[in-house]
Amino acid sequence: MGEFNVALIPGDGIGPEIVAGAVTVLDAVSSKYGHKFNYTEVYMGGCAIDKYGVPLPQETIDICKKSDSVLLGAVGGPKWDSQPSENRPEKGLLGIRKALGLYSNLRPSILKPQLKDASPLKDEKLKNGLNVMVVRELTGGIYFGKREKGADWASDEEKYSVEEVKRIGKIAFETAMLRGKRVVSVDKANVLESSRLWRATMEQISKDYPEVTLTHMYVDNAAMQLAINPAQFDVIVTSNIFGDILSDLSSAIAGSIGMLPSASLGATKCGMYEPIHGSAPDIAGQDIANPIATIVSAAMMLEMSFGLIDEAKAINDAVDKVLNEKYRTTDIMSEGMTKVGCKKMAELIAENL
Ligand code: IPM
Ligand code: MN
Repeated sequence: MGEFNVALIPGDGIGPEIVAGAVTVLDAVSSKYGHKFNYTEVYMGGCAIDKYGVPLPQETIDICKKSDSVLLGAVGGPKWDSQPSENRPEKGLLGIRKALGLYSNLRPSILKPQLKDASPLKDEKLKNGLNVMVVRELTGGIYFGKREKGADWASDEEKYSVEEVKRIGKIAFETAMLRGKRVVSVDKANVLESSRLWRATMEQISKDYPEVTLTHMYVDNAAMQLAINPAQFDVIVTSNIFGDILSDLSSAIAGSIGMLPSASLGATKCGMYEPIHGSAPDIAGQDIANPIATIVSAAMMLEMSFGLIDEAKAINDAVDKVLNEKYRTTDIMSEGMTKVGCKKMAELIAENL
């Protein structure tokens, strides 16, 4: 029996609804297994701009740093589109990733047999399934490079150091050792100098992992390969921006972006866990969002930050059970299924633990 301090960042749009869903499931875990989760809710993103004038108040950083882990919903929305660029909600998200040193972002995409009909790919392309882990570098590259703007031009710098590439490469190879032992490193080394450094560094790290096969793919080809033969991938390791793009693609192939979790980790056990989707302002407050990505993000938190492997498995099994019983939110709805809202979906998962 353990006690864990969890910082909650509901954020904007559907964020509060999906985080509430995850808390419903965490509460069920705590009563079933006797753990205690102490939640502290903090502001980040648009709601923080409204309340404090900034997307990432210092208090939020302090509370997250003191917590055992952070669970995040989503941030952003059209309401804050007119904010100056340095004060956008997304700045809060990038800022907290940086402040907590969360350089590695793990984004697993698994095609569940129950959701085959929700995938945009034809059956024939899905016959060998999809089970890929996108390992995205999260605190470097163009997201954090120098930004400049002149009267009629603008630029964003893509820059990586060997050290930054090494540490994310190491995570990818360690992850592959626990999976299918295949790493595809995705870059644009036919054009970009930073990609050539990325590629050479991956080659160098691979010498420490003789059991793991390393191959390289240009990002344009990787996008095509994901669409025509998704089963070929085990672990993809890539830069911040390429990882952002490819993880949306892999999630769509798995049925819906509403299903997929992520873990952001750094040098310590304190990680940040969040769905890979955004704040979906168009459906906010309607109780139709899919809470599963956030719920399985909470499961990743239990496993990776708290070492609660059985409890994490119980959540994932409960999700499968509810899907087997044909309950669906709107985004994964198909013929013959029972449509439920966000709150109901979370309750069903909690009941099935
Ligand atoms: C994600 C999101 C963020 C990103 C945005 C909201 C800044 O798209 O987590 O994938 O680009 O990293
Ligand atoms: Mn994204």
